[in-house]
Amino acid sequence: MKKLNLVVLASGGGTNLQAIIDHIEAGKLNAQIKAVISNNSKAGVLERARNHDIPAIHLSHKQFATLEEFDLKLLSILKENQIDMLVLAGYMKMLSPVIIREYKNRIINIHPALLPSFGGPGMYGIHVHEAVIKSGVKVTGVTVHMVDEVYDHGAIVMQKTVPVMDDDTPESLAERVLKVEHQAYSEALQLFAEGRVEIIDNRAFIKK
Ligand code: GRF
Repeated sequence: MKKLNLVVLASGGGTNLQAIIDHIEAGKLNAQIKAVISNNSKAGVLERARNHDIPAIHLSHKQFATLEEFDLKLLSILKENQIDMLVLAGYMKMLSPVIIREYKNRIINIHPALLPSFGGPGMYGIHVHEAVIKSGVKVTGVTVHMVDEVYDHGAIVMQKTVPVMDDDTPESLAERVLKVEHQAYSEALQLFAEGRVEIIDNRAFIKK
């Protein structure tokens, strides 16, 4: 079976990146990370990549005169590495339609709630868990989904639930959800590695 070639795009601490690396190293995910790219030069995610000898690239819109030039650079990195999938793991910028079209059904993201609830603009980080608690729902979770041109909208590949406790704070809930993310993302990527995901009309079907 061919290894899935991945590039990870992230802006923050990178615990999801770390979980993916750990799954690969444990032989549970048949993939290799060709590069980690961050728009933030100080992001922990770049440090984590370096610790595992993965090329760590700082690439920000601010380094280019136009968005088009940024897109071309990003595209050239993805092409050079012959990636199968682009993995967003806490990437705080929108990708251009050019990238999304070029890598249709090959860009994947993880969201810390059960989409389509608690998604969309402004729904990131602790804001998601605040909204979940405020709404009074008893169950939240994680969603691994494809990225299309609409924020938090692409085909849902995997969801896992997490109970909301009466005494949860946004922080305590975030912590439990994050642990589930770390499992779900690699499991979902392994489905792609096994060639088991088919996307039809914005729905992901998982072959047995
Ligand atoms: C995660 O909660 C993920 O769902 C969201 O961004 C966060 C990234 O966390 N998209 P980390 O940098 O992987 O720790």
